[in-house]
Amino acid sequence: MDVAAERPATAPGRELRRGDPCAFVIFGAVGDLTQRLLLPALYNLAAARLLPDQFCLVGVARRDMTDEAFRRNMGEAVREFATGGVDHATLDRLLSRCRYVRGDFDEPSTYERLKIELDEVGRTFDTRGNCIFYLATPPDQFAPIALKLGQSGLAEERDGSWRRLIVEKPFGLDLGSARALNQELLSVFAEKHIYRIDHYLGKETVQNIMVLRFANGIFEPLWNRDHIDHVQITVAETVSVEQRGKLYDHTGALRDMVPNHLFQLLALTAMEPPTCFEADAVRTEKRKAIEAVRPLTLDDVKMNVVRGQYTAGRVEGEAVAAYRGAVGVAAHSMTETYVAMRLILDNWRWAGVPFYLRTGKALAARRTEIAIKFKSAPFVLFRDTPVESLAQNLLVLRIQPGEGAALHFNAKVPGPSIRIENVRMNFNYEDYFDAAPSTGYETLIYDCMIGDPTLFQRADNIEAGWQVVAPILDAWQADGRDLAFYQAGSDGPDAAELLLSRQGRAWRTIA
Ligand code: BG6
Repeated sequence: MDVAAERPATAPGRELRRGDPCAFVIFGAVGDLTQRLLLPALYNLAAARLLPDQFCLVGVARRDMTDEAFRRNMGEAVREFATGGVDHATLDRLLSRCRYVRGDFDEPSTYERLKIELDEVGRTFDTRGNCIFYLATPPDQFAPIALKLGQSGLAEERDGSWRRLIVEKPFGLDLGSARALNQELLSVFAEKHIYRIDHYLGKETVQNIMVLRFANGIFEPLWNRDHIDHVQITVAETVSVEQRGKLYDHTGALRDMVPNHLFQLLALTAMEPPTCFEADAVRTEKRKAIEAVRPLTLDDVKMNVVRGQYTAGRVEGEAVAAYRGAVGVAAHSMTETYVAMRLILDNWRWAGVPFYLRTGKALAARRTEIAIKFKSAPFVLFRDTPVESLAQNLLVLRIQPGEGAALHFNAKVPGPSIRIENVRMNFNYEDYFDAAPSTGYETLIYDCMIGDPTLFQRADNIEAGWQVVAPILDAWQADGRDLAFYQAGSDGPDAAELLLSRQGRAWRTIA
């Protein structure tokens, strides 16, 4: 049966084949992630005719629920969190392929029931024994579930069928725990069957970084230390920790955002061109870029890394209480809600070009961007003119919002004398492309269904990221005095400005 039989395709621009036949098993099927993102993404894939005809969804969770109640629950989630209008026929067809298995994740009987259910849905929907297990659970469940899948025989591939495992973030809390998790997962699933999610890679603008760099003749020749002065990578959020205080207080901005999302942006900006779009070629180049980061000593951390925490203020006109007043946060918490750092990549392309990274919550605006600042043009020609200085060229890749890119350059102001102004050439995605609104998970789920792990993290990519931040975690643990406070609604702590101003540079304003 066709899941979206009566609906014209609204697929993203390219002509795609449908995903391969499979059962899609979600552990944590009534959780927030499933409801807000996974179900709407599956609906969008159904509406775009990208789900296979031979498909079914099996939810696994602790709550006692019938299949019927699960479907109702799912239907409500899709209607509430859909990224666009909901076509009822498409939704009903999707819901008719949903089953529910109740059970504790640490109980072997849960996996026995799941096995029976999978056999049954395999026959009903002809899923060919293929199965994706999606771990949308708290991170401490990732390894136990994978091990139970192994012990119960559910991870076994038989008669040409395949088994794939999607693992959410956070992947470990430090290098040691990430390595241990990799080892446990790899004791059950082969690397090529493990899909570690970083949802930043589902963003079109993030995928576009490689296209911008490698599909154009004009950027790559300039993309190196001969022409680039420095790079600024910003992931600024207006949201505060809201209800996540308890979890966030043990995580902090560094672990939450840097080895994953910010390093994805760093790796895509700094990597060498892979020889093809094949998963291992791309992921090897990304790993090499992260490995090129000069290891930080404890003294480097003091000089080149700033951690901040927001105090009460106003964000976009709304009052925001101090982080230390948030539910679940310790009264004297030293957890950082902001981090900024200066990194050096010690390789031939980048030696001497600082990469400044920053991310924080409760900041002045929501803005994720990569700003490439080029070296100044020589001034000699303008010595005897009214021109006092020349602005440096700037290329800004706007990841979100206002998806697009802008090139800033100098132009002559019309008139008899030589006066120069910095102007901006702007590209907006929405002016050119008619992309269907999405949750960002569609591409990732679809890629897993067709067995393409390019947009997922390999074990070594994850470990390379943790390796870079390990000295920062160590230094902060050894000395907790350097937390810098910033007012909610500001651009971050003053100390972060110093990272750049020491070398005559400045952050771009966030608001
Ligand atoms: C998540 C972090 O991975 O990414 C959150 O845990 C953060 O703290 C979120 O808010 C940001 O994602 P996006 O897509 O809104 O930039």
